[in-house]
Amino acid sequence: MTIIERVESLLGAMDLAEKIGQLNLLAAGEGLVTGAGQPTALSDRLANGGVGAIFGTKSLASARALQERALAGSRLGIPLFFAEDVIHGHRTIFPLGIAMACSWDMGLIRETAAYAAAEAAAEGLHQVYAPMVDVTRDPRWGRVAEGPGEDPLLASRIATAMVQGFQGPGLGAMLGAGSASGLGASGHVAACLKHFVAYGAPQSGRDYDNASLSWEDLLETYLPPFAAGLEAGALSVMAAFNAVNKVPMHAHHPLIEGWLRASRAEGGQGFDGLMVSDYTGVKELTPHGLGPAQLAVARALHAGIDMDMVGEDYWRELPALAHHGIDAPDAGFSLGAERIGAMIDCACRRVLTFKARLGLLDDPFRGMAETARPPARDKGRALARKAAAASAVLLENNGILPLARGARVALIGPFAADRANMLGTWSVSGRAEDVVPLDQAVAALTGVTPARAWGADIVDESWLAARLNVHGVTVDRDPRPEAEQIAEAVAVARGADIVIAALGEAKEHAGESSSRLSVDLPAVQLRLFAALAALGKPLVTVVFAGRPLSLAALSKQSDALLYAWHGGVGGPEGVADLLFGAAEPSGRLAISMPRHGAEAPVTYASDPSGRPSPGRFAKFLTGWLDLEDDAPHFPFGFGLGYAPVGYGPPRLSRDTAPASDRVTLSVMVVNHGTRTAIETVQLYASDPVAQVTRPARKLIDFMQVSLSPGESREIGFSISAAQFAYPVAPALETACWQRDPGLIRLHVGANSRDTQMVELTWRD
Ligand code: NOJ
Repeated sequence: MTIIERVESLLGAMDLAEKIGQLNLLAAGEGLVTGAGQPTALSDRLANGGVGAIFGTKSLASARALQERALAGSRLGIPLFFAEDVIHGHRTIFPLGIAMACSWDMGLIRETAAYAAAEAAAEGLHQVYAPMVDVTRDPRWGRVAEGPGEDPLLASRIATAMVQGFQGPGLGAMLGAGSASGLGASGHVAACLKHFVAYGAPQSGRDYDNASLSWEDLLETYLPPFAAGLEAGALSVMAAFNAVNKVPMHAHHPLIEGWLRASRAEGGQGFDGLMVSDYTGVKELTPHGLGPAQLAVARALHAGIDMDMVGEDYWRELPALAHHGIDAPDAGFSLGAERIGAMIDCACRRVLTFKARLGLLDDPFRGMAETARPPARDKGRALARKAAAASAVLLENNGILPLARGARVALIGPFAADRANMLGTWSVSGRAEDVVPLDQAVAALTGVTPARAWGADIVDESWLAARLNVHGVTVDRDPRPEAEQIAEAVAVARGADIVIAALGEAKEHAGESSSRLSVDLPAVQLRLFAALAALGKPLVTVVFAGRPLSLAALSKQSDALLYAWHGGVGGPEGVADLLFGAAEPSGRLAISMPRHGAEAPVTYASDPSGRPSPGRFAKFLTGWLDLEDDAPHFPFGFGLGYAPVGYGPPRLSRDTAPASDRVTLSVMVVNHGTRTAIETVQLYASDPVAQVTRPARKLIDFMQVSLSPGESREIGFSISAAQFAYPVAPALETACWQRDPGLIRLHVGANSRDTQMVELTWRD
């Protein structure tokens, strides 16, 4: 039997309650008891076949036990599937999403996703709530930590790599009608692209807030990573909490049933996989202003949300809706009972198809054998360390780095010996004890134990007293007065030849519901930094963070500045490798670093205005009176290595070409140094004359190459006219992608700012 036949025969045998039960997605809950006496509502639901899937189980044993109960409670023996937030690793935590994006290394990203999938699958999980592909240009938004950064092309390639890594080669191929079998190789899980869509564009960077943007921006900036993930075969998608252009995403029929699900012939993506709500997202339609529970449920189902996460509103409201339909003229919304019944069938069909694709209809315990083994931990640790080194971005270096291994260093600051914060946000299955802290990583690598002082709390007293306290800080606080702590730090620093300041933000200060107005380092850390800088000793600053922070003081007064993000279990070891030259810095910013939080949103790809940008203080120009230079402090794509790399002049195979042809842009890159250079050659385009305002620059391709000392290599980019198409969309329904004949400027170089330009003309 094909999957379709299998699912249809099951659906035909189900009653309404069983169908609605399949749409119910529950959390395993804290303190879950997996024995017979579990006194929770989950227990009752399982006994009545009232659960389709569970997320957040913490062990294979617990997943197995729940599966047994579900099978016993289901007349037709329909199994659950299990999901989890495996965002940047499962038990082995890799660097944050934003950090991995800075590696620009798709092979590495794919490998970390595959490893995470294998760990998750060995715990009986079938679906991960990743990749998070929300493009964002706002460093204030806390969830910048999880995502791919500011650029749609980079985000799209990451979406592809992660879906491939999670799902492996077998799963993706199963999308489409007739396939007969389920999950290909074991050790893989279904990906879930999230959060659909424009969750990364909330007003003022406030989490969950709504996005009002042009359809053009939606189509060109926020939707492409979803398109790429679907193209790679992602089996599921999660809706976003926010509204887009006034319609909450959990009720956004035009974007879900339209853009996402409609066939390609109709201008959609033809997605036939599973759409889940976000946590209580259906229920939240009511405070969004879309009506009481029954109306909210009808709208969500109509919009194309198949499963209701945690809220149980589908469970409560759908039985009545299926019998009576809904007629809400004041809300302009009516659906007959028959239509609602058909929609329930459709959602249930998708849930069953998802289970069939995972192989669960053939074997409900697939991948859950007691003998299931996670992949070798040491392999994961080595990968995590490599990933941490590849994702840290070297922003300044006057030649002080790499340090000699015998150097007498003092390691100072709240992250000098920290473990827990290195895991970063959304590391639900990670353990702080798996992290080797920076002081130990340096000692293990160099054989010399660094002098160490803490020197400052992570956040100011005032922060702790105020709202940020709610979010906690995962460090032991030093009860001594600040002056005493700083004096001790300065004394320790005096005794060393080189000072390493380990500064940053706590893992709770970036992530969900963790937006910040200011993107400055906490003042207490700036005071510590000033005291260290005043010593006049060689000063290397390492910043551990979940968002781009403004770095003005640090950048001016540090001899080297390394942006290490929250780097996961191997984070500090990766940093030690970079500081002492055991690895080459190759990270490049996946997001612009602002000078000031109030500049947000910030992007290299902003549309030009009619007035030039100042570059320096001036009036009647685009910019701010109180910001001397409104270019990002460090631009998108920027990052240093230890070997200087030179670029020859770019050349085109032809400077005029018919639009049906391809043109090659070549550029010679040369490693002028004595160490290996890992260079990411970036190609941007601008369209000086178009029907609408086009971004000042837009990344259209990139290539990462490793160059031995003295090596030169010619890099070739194959260019087609299709790369310059752009959307024109007075309304979503009438959107079309078009391209103008004529001049295109191509900018190639090491980052979005430092480029050389050639001109190409398309003849149509
Ligand atoms: C809410 C978050 O927005 C989403 O990313 C996550 O997957 C779910 N909660 C489940 O934990």
